[in-house]
Amino acid sequence: MLTKVRTATLSGIRGYPVTVETDLHSGLPGFHIVGLADTTIKEASRRIKPAIQNCGGRFPAERVTVNLVPAGRPKEGSHFDLPIALGIMMLGSEPADPEHTAYIGEVSLDGTINGVRGALPLAICLRRAGIKNLVLPVENAAEVSILEDINLIPVSHLREAAEYAAGTAVPGIYKRKENAAVNGKSNLDFSQVIGQESVKRAILVGAAGNHGILMMGSPGCGKTMMARRIPGILPELTYEEKVEITGIYSVAGLLSPENPIITQRPFRSPHHNITQTGLIGGGTRPRPGELSLAHRGVLFLDEMGEFDAKVIDAMRQPVEEGVIRINRNLEEVVFPSEVMMVIAANPCKCGNLWDSRKMCTCSGRQLENYRRKLMGPFADRIDIHIKVNPVDKESLQRYDNPAIGMKWESTEEMRDKVIRARLVQTERYAGEPFGCNGQLDEKGIRRYCALDSEGHELMMASYERLGLSMRGYSKILRMARTIADIEGSENIETDHVAEALMYRVDLKI
Ligand SMILES: Nc1ncnc2c1ncn2[C@@H]1O[C@H](COP(=O)(O)OP(=O)(O)OP(=O)(O)O)[C@@H](O)[C@H]1O
Ligand SMILES: [Mg+2]
Repeated sequence: MLTKVRTATLSGIRGYPVTVETDLHSGLPGFHIVGLADTTIKEASRRIKPAIQNCGGRFPAERVTVNLVPAGRPKEGSHFDLPIALGIMMLGSEPADPEHTAYIGEVSLDGTINGVRGALPLAICLRRAGIKNLVLPVENAAEVSILEDINLIPVSHLREAAEYAAGTAVPGIYKRKENAAVNGKSNLDFSQVIGQESVKRAILVGAAGNHGILMMGSPGCGKTMMARRIPGILPELTYEEKVEITGIYSVAGLLSPENPIITQRPFRSPHHNITQTGLIGGGTRPRPGELSLAHRGVLFLDEMGEFDAKVIDAMRQPVEEGVIRINRNLEEVVFPSEVMMVIAANPCKCGNLWDSRKMCTCSGRQLENYRRKLMGPFADRIDIHIKVNPVDKESLQRYDNPAIGMKWESTEEMRDKVIRARLVQTERYAGEPFGCNGQLDEKGIRRYCALDSEGHELMMASYERLGLSMRGYSKILRMARTIADIEGSENIETDHVAEALMYRVDLKI
């Protein structure tokens, strides 16, 4: 006597289809789950028996064996409770439309179905595998409703799921809400930032070409204020991006009934005492870290001088590759981490090094340690380095003088420029492995960042003067390409190179 029920398992943020085979043998009573199940699934045997009995079902007195196919892939998650319970309840009969129906859900002892992590990536892989009907916890229906071509049957109790599987109840298909996907609109705007035009320009370049940015300056001059406004100038998320990011938050267990779908670019600002696992991701059942939660958005490291040097070092590979690889015993789990890195730091521990009106109280040794931590190999991978000065008196005067009526560049104006520059890059790089200037590899640089002889001469002179590394040299070419794209210029002009060079000066600390 054998039943088959379809479901899926998670690896990182990807789902893989799984078939739960349940078999009944005569012999001593027993319940065994085989097929590389983790401890949560093995514990299911204790939860499922009372749950079936509590909703009026009979748990067989014979020997029950559950096999999870394919047997070679590790399986994890409490969402296996429901397919396993149904496999046992349906022994001897076939569940409704078994080829096109899948089940996920955690079952309580009284039969209540609880929400699970990762419902969206599970649903995505099942849909790809030909599933048309997904029976899932009520709590997860809103997040999965972002997928359009799959029927969702939300259930809150094992009994409802069993009736559906037996074909004795008409399924209640989830009705998608039109406005389910609206996260609150931000009231942060760049027009609120007085002066700081050169920093705003650098931020514009960073956003337009997806270049990381390191802002260094005295306390209170607006670094945090500006960083928080960066997501607003990035283009809106596409449908595919929303699905991808919502999937990551689903795996992290960070979606809520009020916010079931992520519709705005992420902005993550982890506290400086965050651990390496918190930032990169990992754990026995790997969860995404802040780097992945900021995927396709902004990862803001405020007060970088306060972060643990080891944690900063661990970000080097993910930032360069755009993915995080975590090795578990049997497989490699991959999390995406394509972020715009934004870093803010004071020039020294006390913060006053650059402020002529104040005294720096750091010792020579403290300054050296601080410099070593901040300007190490990680910072070298950040394209734009810019000094943030206190707001100048002239800007403040213009702002305070109603006769002049000064308006500072707004988020909307900046976003228009970013969108235009990104469009140029998307068209130019169609069919290439990179999508924007910040991702250009050496081959891409040679092909798309050619300079005229004047620009070349300027680069040569600066190579010596600034003591550039080859990495630094490539970065300037990438930034010059972005500046040319913002200016709507097909060729990189000398002015563009000159501006790019300003973002690579040594921030003398
Ligand atoms: N250019 C500016 N225009 C308008 N307000 C500003 C500006 N700079 C700073 N402020 C005001 O000062 C406050 C502090 O600025 P912010 O926190 O961004 O400084 P910071 O450079 O991050 O300082 P710290 O190094 O101490 O973190 C802001 O909340 C804002 O109200
Ligand atoms: Mg700050």
